[in-house]
Amino acid sequence: MRKEILDLLKKAGDTYISGEDIAEKLGVSRTAVWKHIKELRRAGYDIVSQAHSGYALKGAPDVLTPEELMPLLKDSLFGKNIIYHEETRSTNEDAKAAANDGAPDGTVVVTEFQGTGHGRLSRGWFCPKGEGVLFSVILRPTSFLPQEAPKCTLLAAVAVARAIRGLGIDVGIKWPNDILADGRKLVGILTEMSAEMERIHYIVIGTGINVNIDADEFSPEIQDTATSLSILAGHAIDRRALLAAILREMESLYAAVQREGFAPVFDAWRELSVTLGQEVRVLGVNETFEGTAADIDETGALLVDTPEGRRRVLAGDVSIRPKGWTGKRTN
Ligand code: BTN
Repeated sequence: MRKEILDLLKKAGDTYISGEDIAEKLGVSRTAVWKHIKELRRAGYDIVSQAHSGYALKGAPDVLTPEELMPLLKDSLFGKNIIYHEETRSTNEDAKAAANDGAPDGTVVVTEFQGTGHGRLSRGWFCPKGEGVLFSVILRPTSFLPQEAPKCTLLAAVAVARAIRGLGIDVGIKWPNDILADGRKLVGILTEMSAEMERIHYIVIGTGINVNIDADEFSPEIQDTATSLSILAGHAIDRRALLAAILREMESLYAAVQREGFAPVFDAWRELSVTLGQEVRVLGVNETFEGTAADIDETGALLVDTPEGRRRVLAGDVSIRPKGWTGKRTN
């Protein structure tokens, strides 16, 4: 009901709509409307009322609730089932639980704050409440096999990079899935999967974006290596519009993959890559080596040319070696 009342208020724009009209349109009593308006105000909506005219919406809180996101994602798969927690431990954990309970393809889990958000290689992911975009998407693809699932990470990186570029902020992708601006990390993506040999049960793609975070809010260990969109843009960024733009990009790439495979994702990834052509240091599972990042192969693995020949990197961490390389990590 809250959502329907908000929709009517948003549609009315600056004009007032009477409680009676709302009640009639939604088939509820005026008292029920009034109770929901009170609830919406408590949730941060600036709803003014005027005797004989009714209600008008003057401002919405900066939240990533289904009420705020769904109108921006009309007719899209990723706007159909949005699970929102104001606070949670990890949206990836929530998404896996929801997927195990049968949540459909395209379900999105989003939060304002994670207590134990996690990243690749057992790292943590922290973001102050309401200042990032933290979400996970559940995919249930039928057109590719479990071996191909890691490529979904590239898909997500392309989608996020495109949406951020749409804001006029220049970003690039560091293999496999970090998004960097000015050499600093802005976005992290963690893909997890449940599958049998021949069949994917579900893939969860979790994304964390530093959106409206001030430089001094980053923990000391990452102050030199992390950045946020508001730092780069010089002003606060509309998190709702950004998340909606990302989900639209993801959905269109996902549809393309289901139709024609991952080739369009790979092409776009290469264009957006800041890794290819660079001198890199690879911190593999068992060893560290250096070379020139030449390309990605058809599995998404990074191909690195070293004095000993071409090496294929399937997992691990890659540091781009800036000029005057000191050996200090850049991510
Ligand atoms: C990385 O760079 O190591 C990946 C970080 C991924 C963080 C996101 S935040 C939303 C989702 N939930 C999690 O617990 N992790 C991912």
